[in-house]
Amino acid sequence: MENLQSTTTLQNGVKMPWLGLGVFKVEEGQELVNAVKTAITHGYRSIDTAAIYGNEVGVGQGVRQAMAETGVAREDLFITSKVWNSELGYETTIAAYEESLTKLDIDYLDLYLIHWPVAGKYKDAWRALETLYKEGRVKAIGVSNFQIHHLEDLMKDAEIKPMLNQVEYHPRLTQKELHAFCLRHDIQLEAWSPLMQGELLDNTELQEIADKYGKSVAQVILRWDLQNGVITIPKSTKEHRIAENATVFDFELTPEDMARIDSLNKNHRVGPDPDNIDF
Ligand SMILES: NC(=O)c1ccc[n+]([C@@H]2O[C@H](COP(=O)([O-])OP(=O)(O)OC[C@H]3O[C@@H](n4cnc5c(N)ncnc54)[C@H](OP(=O)(O)O)[C@@H]3O)[C@@H](O)[C@H]2O)c1
Repeated sequence: MENLQSTTTLQNGVKMPWLGLGVFKVEEGQELVNAVKTAITHGYRSIDTAAIYGNEVGVGQGVRQAMAETGVAREDLFITSKVWNSELGYETTIAAYEESLTKLDIDYLDLYLIHWPVAGKYKDAWRALETLYKEGRVKAIGVSNFQIHHLEDLMKDAEIKPMLNQVEYHPRLTQKELHAFCLRHDIQLEAWSPLMQGELLDNTELQEIADKYGKSVAQVILRWDLQNGVITIPKSTKEHRIAENATVFDFELTPEDMARIDSLNKNHRVGPDPDNIDF
């Protein structure tokens, strides 16, 4: 884990960058295209979007413009999207995958995820992801917002285990049990809302730790993700923050500071509870 292009290897051998750019709540338009382009220019290789974000067209544009300007090849990039709840089913998920590719205007995704574990629907969707994977149309498949019981239930019938689980994860929600379960099953954990959507950035304890290293609170949190072996995808549309969030490979938190950050856990979510979703 040396730089922004450093990768972890998923259970199927596919390499995925430890740090990427999230684009939740960034609408189609120039700001989005610029954010994606800026990130890739600064060395990011991984972009996380989803059908429901309604911004796959702009993500694709940003990717293509960055490739043209920087010479970075498609195979050096890692693009993730997710199938939305309304499309969960065998045929509908295959069609949703096609639609995401069309909007992004690319030939394949590196990672395709089931966005939420909608009861009674995710198994058919998983079969669709397995088909896409077996046909070589997607490099890796996984899930998002799956709790341990969802993973157990899915894996009872699955031919292929999810390669990754993207969940809400930050110092107020450290997900220890879920993480241990994922480690046992070789499912890579990925953090969404790693900065708790900005809510953690004025935390005095984190600020104290950040001051010690001459780093920002955002950088300390993202470094804590990486040292915990968790992929992280902070979102920003501002160039200076895109750059700041990526400058986390030049320092190391001590075990004491890692523990101090762990102790901030309150099992507190900013996003929906996967066991009580109504969408
Ligand atoms: N699978 C899921 O269900 C799910 C759910 C939510 C999110 N996600 C993914 O995870 C990504 C990240 O999560 P998120 O967007 O919810 O929240 P986040 O990354 O925790 O926080 C983003 C917020 O923090 C601000 N910010 C970023 N870097 C900063 C810095 N260095 N200093 C100060 N402020 C900073 C951003 O503002 P500016 O843009 O103004 O800089 C934005 O308001 C998403 O974009 C999405 O790709 C997935």
